[in-house]
Amino acid sequence: MIDLRSDTVTKPTPGMLAAMTAAAVGDDVFGEDPTVNELERRTAALFGKEAGLFVPSGTMSNQIALRVHCRPQDEILLESTSHIYVWEAGGPAALSGATCRTIDGRSGRLGDGDFADKIRPDDVHAVRTRLVCLEITHNRGGGTITSPDAVNDISRWARHNGLAMHLDGARIWNAIVKSGLPAHKWADMFDTVSVCFSKGLGAPVGSALLGPKDLIKDARRYRKLFGGGMRQAGFLAAACLYALDHHVERLAEDHTNAQIIAKAVEDVPGLTLTPDEVETNLVWFEVNGNLGTAKDVAERLKGGGVLVAALGKNVIRAATHLDVGRADCLKAAEVIRKLR
Ligand SMILES: Cc1ncc(COP(=O)(O)O)c(C=O)c1O
Repeated sequence: MIDLRSDTVTKPTPGMLAAMTAAAVGDDVFGEDPTVNELERRTAALFGKEAGLFVPSGTMSNQIALRVHCRPQDEILLESTSHIYVWEAGGPAALSGATCRTIDGRSGRLGDGDFADKIRPDDVHAVRTRLVCLEITHNRGGGTITSPDAVNDISRWARHNGLAMHLDGARIWNAIVKSGLPAHKWADMFDTVSVCFSKGLGAPVGSALLGPKDLIKDARRYRKLFGGGMRQAGFLAAACLYALDHHVERLAEDHTNAQIIAKAVEDVPGLTLTPDEVETNLVWFEVNGNLGTAKDVAERLKGGGVLVAALGKNVIRAATHLDVGRADCLKAAEVIRKLR
């Protein structure tokens, strides 16, 4: 099977497994795991932040960030289809007592103009507008990158208005590789950044929250509260360090392979790329015409040995990643074209 359902389906490579088994470990809740400490230090430095915190998942990393920035009765401004809003099980309300004010983006992209009238008045009836969250690359938007100029404008606006900025950078690696803008330049525009090692980078588990020392100190306490304090987590952190060393630059291959899939989708009447240009490793498309539902199409592709994710009645996502090479993608493209 050629599994294009998600870039999270990767298995550790032999090199990564070797690095994991060789890891020096200790009890990370005591702060004594050298490999976790090294990962936190290195990732924070890469993004130009003072401190980092290793956590089990991107969801936990985002939710801890919200908890650090917000208190009950605060409001978060974020894009309507963002992961934090749609796919984190109501975390902002359940874990931080915060409300979300959603803004419709253009394939997930926002500009400062979208925020202009979004700050609530200083009034007892209103929530306190507190935080802006952006997602780059934007998953549901189609793996899209909000341009650094647009992020900069939003960030300047937010800071001018006393709001904090958080980046859900689960796939910021793809944006770094695609745009050529280094990690620390992206991160400069945010107070906190969440990154994942378990998506395009191929680690089995792990995300990190990066930011100023005082916020990360608070974040460590919330990690304990949310049940994310792990013990000999260095075995996992070693996989993440390996991923940093070996699997970032190669994301360009995933982007090239995504174009192969996108081209095949374009060739099938009844399938439409959404958005019509694929920027990174995620290929989202709609099923229309006489091909049936997304589920029907996913079943037919499965029959041809290709797995995709049906994520709505008419919506499908195909993701390229470390475990599908160019030959797999050419084969998958053939199977997709047979839908005609
Ligand atoms: C943009 C984005 N943010 C956060 C997450 C959450 O990551 P996790 O599945 O590790 O909780 C995902 C998961 O796919 C994601 O796509």
